[in-house]
Amino acid sequence: MNLASVVRAEQKLLLPTYDRHKVLFTHGRGVYLWDSKGKRYLDFVSGIGVNALGHAHPAVLKVLRQQAAKMIHSSNLFYHPYQAELAKRLTKISVLDRVFFCNSGTEAWEGALKLARAYARAENRNGNKAKWRLLALDNSFHGRTFGALATTGQQKYRDPFVPLLPGVEFVAFNDLEDLQRQFDESVCAICLETIQGEGGIHPISPEFLALARELADRSGALVLLDEIQCGLGRTGEYFAFQHYGIKPDIVTVAKPLAAGLPLGAVLTTERVSGGMHPGLHGTTFGGGPLACRVAIEYLRQLEGLLGHIRQLGKYFLGELERLHSKHSVVRAVRGIGFMLAIELESTDAAKQVVSRLLAQGILINRTHETVLRFLPPYITKAKHVDALIAALDRELSALSSAPKSPSKSGRTKVAA
Ligand SMILES: Cc1ncc(COP(=O)(O)O)c(C=O)c1O
Repeated sequence: MNLASVVRAEQKLLLPTYDRHKVLFTHGRGVYLWDSKGKRYLDFVSGIGVNALGHAHPAVLKVLRQQAAKMIHSSNLFYHPYQAELAKRLTKISVLDRVFFCNSGTEAWEGALKLARAYARAENRNGNKAKWRLLALDNSFHGRTFGALATTGQQKYRDPFVPLLPGVEFVAFNDLEDLQRQFDESVCAICLETIQGEGGIHPISPEFLALARELADRSGALVLLDEIQCGLGRTGEYFAFQHYGIKPDIVTVAKPLAAGLPLGAVLTTERVSGGMHPGLHGTTFGGGPLACRVAIEYLRQLEGLLGHIRQLGKYFLGELERLHSKHSVVRAVRGIGFMLAIELESTDAAKQVVSRLLAQGILINRTHETVLRFLPPYITKAKHVDALIAALDRELSALSSAPKSPSKSGRTKVAA
């Protein structure tokens, strides 16, 4: 099948959920993908943060082949050796105590919301005041299922599906006063992405996260962190919350966890896990032996990459800031590690840069209309960053109307 026939067939046969770029990828290796015409692309999208070890990583392939030949699925009715082993590694790096495995980001977030309500209800049994409200943030994104949509602070995703889960209210982003005002004893959880991803790479401020922790501690509510995009190494630490020195009650991860296979996880404390009991939550596919074994290998590889992400991420950010100083079309530069973005002055400008880079064989992604997002694989080297920066420089020059002073900076600090 060629590109034209695939496009025709999809248009006829699939639900029209995606507006895809007209590229038919056939295979990948390392930081590169190839299309059906043999053209090579440098990948700064990594499947929206999924292919963190790049494509066809030899260690991943080895484990995949071994485990696929042994057992792919066994169900959660029985034991297999790898959920406990993976949970041991995840709890060690997060300093949390227990894990629930599922299949995707949105499913992990649903599990987190259910766990928060289950915990609140279990506490109620002890005679405490009822807690049910969920405070979420403006501009957030937690997924496409109903609970995740209900806590997603963007009308374009929510409005077509109302009525949604009741009991959710939104706090203005990083607004301490608004959080104080809306928080009371009825709140069962404060729901946050440590760094908003889809919303345009906006880190939560250290003060806001500290206040959320303090309010939750005082009343017995929970802090839920969605690290589906920013977790598992993307910022140069295992978890983005580790930049803040604050421990959440529940953390969700997914995207890179099984290096391309679907796997998500909810991590929590011993105390909060008391809200669960057999039969209250579950999944058919989640935590299967194949995905778990690959995830164990992923975490093994990640250990040796964190320093590289921190170091090259700093260089990458510096280069983006240089472009910001040089090109008036750039409004801001944000992010940390390998989760970086530049915001342009218009949607058209951002669309043009994405499609011009695609034509030149470089994949980047546009989010929140005007934001160019960079989520490269962790094996990306300085020479790949340089190739991207040179291409961006050319395209921004083509867009920029007037040069401006090099002193301005729109960067947001992640932690104090
Ligand atoms: C922060 C965050 N939460 C949740 C999700 C939903 O994950 P999934 O698409 O795997 O359901 C995403 C996906 O982009 C995300 O970035």
